[in-house]
Amino acid sequence: MVKAVWIKHAAQLVTLANKVTGPRIKEAMSDLAIIANGSVWLEDGIIQAVGTTKELEVEYASRATEADIIDATGHLVTPGLVDPHTHIAFGGSREREFEMRLEGVTYMDIMNAGGGIHATTRMTRNATEDELVRQTTIRLDSFLAHGVTTIEGKSGYGLDLETELKQLRIMKRLQKEHPMDIVPTFMGAHAVPTEFKGREEEYVNLIIYEMLPVVAKEKLAKFNDVFCEVGVFTPEQSERILEAGKLYGLIPKIHADEIEPYQGAELAAKVGAISAEHLLKASEEGVQAMAEKGVIACLLPATALYLREDAAKGRAMIDAGVPVAISTDCNPGSSPTTSMPLVMNLACISMRLTPAESLCAATYNAACAIQMEDKVGSLEVGKQADVVLWNVQSYQQLQYLFGVNHVKTVWKKGMQVIG
Ligand code: NIG
Ligand code: FE
Repeated sequence: MVKAVWIKHAAQLVTLANKVTGPRIKEAMSDLAIIANGSVWLEDGIIQAVGTTKELEVEYASRATEADIIDATGHLVTPGLVDPHTHIAFGGSREREFEMRLEGVTYMDIMNAGGGIHATTRMTRNATEDELVRQTTIRLDSFLAHGVTTIEGKSGYGLDLETELKQLRIMKRLQKEHPMDIVPTFMGAHAVPTEFKGREEEYVNLIIYEMLPVVAKEKLAKFNDVFCEVGVFTPEQSERILEAGKLYGLIPKIHADEIEPYQGAELAAKVGAISAEHLLKASEEGVQAMAEKGVIACLLPATALYLREDAAKGRAMIDAGVPVAISTDCNPGSSPTTSMPLVMNLACISMRLTPAESLCAATYNAACAIQMEDKVGSLEVGKQADVVLWNVQSYQQLQYLFGVNHVKTVWKKGMQVIG
């Protein structure tokens, strides 16, 4: 039995329990529902009580000896962070490409020459399941150490049935073996594999008729994602793949308008995607369409920085009424980071989100982007006891003191996993 945990006297207990259910827009993103001198009781993996320390003392004083008591005086406490977009289950590493890009070669040139996603596909195909589990575990541990307790994870480095399934299966295995919650996404449409060059439609058909049915039958994924980009999948191909996924109950997501404007945001609204990712080059009409349909913009400012591109227009998207989430995009090419705290900082610095919006985008709205908001993303009675204690006093300091990991302690389902 895991002992109960009683956190008391938090300088700021940021609950995000602001009554708006579903993706938050505009002012609702800034309402963090903060409790000063806050307290929370964790037991049986669940949040049992949230309030001021005074309130919880009335209720729990008689049970104090049953709990580990954490004095959070002078500390910020938040829900565990949620990363709604990662490519975590891959083999190998691509540091040479980092050097090439600094020398001036572009991301797409590297990919078109058989590197990039294709390079990781080769390394992932060649890795055993155990080796992939070992490499992925290192990244999961690092996520936890940065205060992230739930992630989404995509396949997409197999690009053949066997390896796509291998990636999805290792995520399923890690969901059992590792404290992290991993929500799986099928992304067979991450690239057209080199062996299908010139036969793109055949690969699209392979995804639709051979991969999607197996992924659905084995219940290996909740979402279906497509890299809709010039030279990768066209909007028409993307639409076919996403509509086919819907028939199998897989919810659409889209890597949209990352490198070039390509009507990706418009397509996200059209197919009813839960989220559209990247959006660096999204059109104003596309953003408007997303606002109308409530499509979440999943913005990835670390990727923009790493590719030395201008970040997505996060400020304008929030002002237009789009619900915004943020993510690391953790992957071996365009964003090899596991630091959501850095991503929150960058959301402020390069997309002009406020510190409050940035935290909402990394918790509650991020949970909405992977349909996990009934379990994680805010501190509310009955939700999972995923909590972070930070070495700063306020959420403003968390964004202001940038590029540093301020995590002190992390609890996952009530169990201390860091600190
Ligand atoms: O989200 N843009 C496409 N996919 C990933 C990068 C994958 C890779 O380079 O390995 C992304 O940035
Ligand atoms: Fe991505």
